[in-house]
Amino acid sequence: MFRKIAISAVAALAISTGAAFAAVEEVHIDNVDFSFQGPFGTFDQMQLQRGLQVFTEVCSACHGLKFVPIRTLADVGGPMLPEDQVRAYAKNYSVVDKDTGEEREAGPSDKFPANIGAGAPDLSLMAKARAGFSGPYGLGINQFIKGMGGPEYIAALLQGYTGEEKTEAGVTLYENKAFPGGWLGMVQPISDDQVAYADGTPATVQQMSEDVAAFLMWTAEPHLIARKEAGFKAILLLTLLSTLLYLTNKRIWAGVKGPKQA
Ligand code: HEC
Repeated sequence: MFRKIAISAVAALAISTGAAFAAVEEVHIDNVDFSFQGPFGTFDQMQLQRGLQVFTEVCSACHGLKFVPIRTLADVGGPMLPEDQVRAYAKNYSVVDKDTGEEREAGPSDKFPANIGAGAPDLSLMAKARAGFSGPYGLGINQFIKGMGGPEYIAALLQGYTGEEKTEAGVTLYENKAFPGGWLGMVQPISDDQVAYADGTPATVQQMSEDVAAFLMWTAEPHLIARKEAGFKAILLLTLLSTLLYLTNKRIWAGVKGPKQA
């Protein structure tokens, strides 16, 4: 019985890893040392603010962030914009009021608008919806070490354009080294000095790509830091509990299991 189960398990594993091997695409994504990675990493507030700026000035022309409430820009652990700046920022957008059905200026309690005009996907959860790393050999071990690579993928995508383009069935496609398949419908969105950063950081393509990728990681997982903190506390507590239980156990059984009396 056990042998049968073991054999079928091994066979299933072989088939599934075989499939994974076959599906591996030769796309290389560079690891980026983001501040929010590692067990104690936190979001870099200034980077998130720069990323927000890139999103607002560039990406929002085609992409929406329909799951992200504008008020969360003030949240601790996020971009932490002051309340009055959040109110002023909300005025960049207009929304259709649910009660009156009329278009009005957005407020902090509204979400960023959806934007599907250009056929571009919503970016709210994009950093969690893509994996930059796979391998070795499709096993995914790299994801344990470097993380899933969602933000790395976004950063690499923005820097991956080769400058080649072609038109297929009336659609213009642009060649990109980071995009699986090599050709996508998004024109290269950023070039050097596209935005002027308020904090004086030079706006290179690499800098802007990483900033907006970090920002999109925050929109996709705004409670990342709180989650890590809770996990760390839980581990501390469990370690303490295990130690106490071990010592208690020792004491309770000491009379029975203690050194043999002669
Ligand atoms: C001119 C419009 C336009 C702008 C500006 C633009 N995008 Fe896009 N984006 C698109 C379109 C269209 C697609 C869908 C492309 C496809 O699937 O072939 C897309 C797709 C994407 C994808 C998904 C790729 C995938 O793996 O499916 C990401 C990530 C992305 N854009 C990020 C950004 C970021 C970040 C910015 C701002 C720096 C930006 N885009 C600016 C039009 C745009």
